[in-house]
Amino acid sequence: MVSKANSSIEPPRLGEPYLLTPGPLTTSFAVKEAMLRDWGSWDDEFRAMTRKMRTQLLALLGTGKSEYDCVPIQGSGSYCVEAMLGSFVPKDGKVLVLANGAYGLRAAQTMECLGRAFKLLDKGDYLPPRGDEVAAILAEDTAITHVLIIHCETSSGILNPVEEIADVAHAAGRKVLIDSMSAFGAVSLDVERTKYAAMVSSANKCIEGVPGFGFVIARTDELEAAKGNSHSLSLDVHAQWAAMEKTGQWRFTPPTHVIAAFLAALDAHEKEGSVEGRGARYTRNRDVMVEGMRELGFETLLADRWLSPIIVTFFCPASPAFEFQRFYDLMKDRGFIIYPGKLTVVDSFRIGCIGQMDEHVMRKVVLAAAEALAEMGVNDASPPQAALDERKKLAA
Ligand SMILES: Cc1ncc(COP(=O)(O)O)c(C=O)c1O
Repeated sequence: MVSKANSSIEPPRLGEPYLLTPGPLTTSFAVKEAMLRDWGSWDDEFRAMTRKMRTQLLALLGTGKSEYDCVPIQGSGSYCVEAMLGSFVPKDGKVLVLANGAYGLRAAQTMECLGRAFKLLDKGDYLPPRGDEVAAILAEDTAITHVLIIHCETSSGILNPVEEIADVAHAAGRKVLIDSMSAFGAVSLDVERTKYAAMVSSANKCIEGVPGFGFVIARTDELEAAKGNSHSLSLDVHAQWAAMEKTGQWRFTPPTHVIAAFLAALDAHEKEGSVEGRGARYTRNRDVMVEGMRELGFETLLADRWLSPIIVTFFCPASPAFEFQRFYDLMKDRGFIIYPGKLTVVDSFRIGCIGQMDEHVMRKVVLAAAEALAEMGVNDASPPQAALDERKKLAA
C-alpha cells in the first residue's frame, strides 16, 4: 500500500492499488461517495443534474461554446464513437478514418458494421497521420465527406496533430470528427480553431468520473441535421438530444449514480483550474515518471514532442530476466496496476498519468519499478536493438 507522505491527494481510502491505466482510473473518495444515494431518473432534481452536467461540460470549450451542445449517451466510450459516426455521417457519406493504433482501427471496424463508406489511412502502431498525406487523399477522393481523427491514441499514448489535420480537412471543405476519449478535459482543443463537427469523450477519463456513460459535443447545426441518419435507436444522437431538450430527461434508463459521481468530478476539475490545471498536473506526473524511468534505463516509444500527458509506452527491457507478467505482479504488490502494451512489432508496456495522483505518487511508481527490476534480477532496463530501430521510423 502507498502511504500519503508528501502527497496533497488522498490515496485510495480502501487501500486498493492505484490504477496507472487510462480509465477506469483512480477516483477521489468524494466521487465515490456521491454514489451513496439514489435518484429518481424522472425527478426534477435529477433532470437538474443532467442539465448542470451538460452546461459544465460545454463550459470547458471556452469562448466557442455557443455554437455547440452536449449530448450524454449511456454506455462506454465505444458506444459514443459508434453513435457519433452513425448520427453525423449521412447514409451516403464517406469517412476518412485516420488510424495509428487500436482505437482508429476500432472506428474503421465500426464503419464496417454500420455499412457506410470509409477509407482507412492505417499508419501502423503509432506513426501520426500528417496534414500533407491527408490533403492528398482528400484531393483524390472527392466522395469523402468527413475525416475522423483520434486525439490521443491511447494504445501508444501519442498525441496526434489534430489541429494540423482539421486545418487540411476544412481547407478541402470536409467535416471533422474527433475521438478525444482519453484527452478531453486535460488537453485543450481550441474549438475556435478546430471547429470540429462533433467529438466524443467519456466519464471515466480526464474528468475522473466512474465508467457508465460518454458524451458527444457537437455543433448545434450538425445535431439538427443529424435527424434520421442513425442506424440505431439507442445510439441516435439526434433523438437523444431532441428528447433531452424537450423533456430534460434521458430517453432510456440513465446511469444515475454515475452522473452524480461525475458532477462531483466536474466540481473538482473546476477547482483544480479546469483543463489547464488538470493538464498541468498530468504533465508533471508524466515528466516525473518518464524522467525516473529513463534513469532506470527504460526507453519510451515516442520522442518527447509526441508524448501525451495521458499514458506513456515503454519498451520492455532486452534482459532475458525481464518478464512482463512478473513485473506487473511485482508492481501490483507495491500498490500500482500498470497496463500491457499494444505494439505489434516489439514488446512494450504502458503507464498512465491520469487519475487521482500527483508527482509524489509518480516518484513512488519509479521506486516500485526499480525494486521490481532488482527482484527480477534485471540489471539493465534498456530495450533490444529492434525496438530502437522501430523508434527511428518516427524520427525520420
Ligand atoms: C481514444 C479512445 N477511443 C475509444 C476508446 C474506447 O472506449 P471504451 O473502452 O470506454 O469503450 C478508448 C478507451 O480507452 C480510447 O482511449
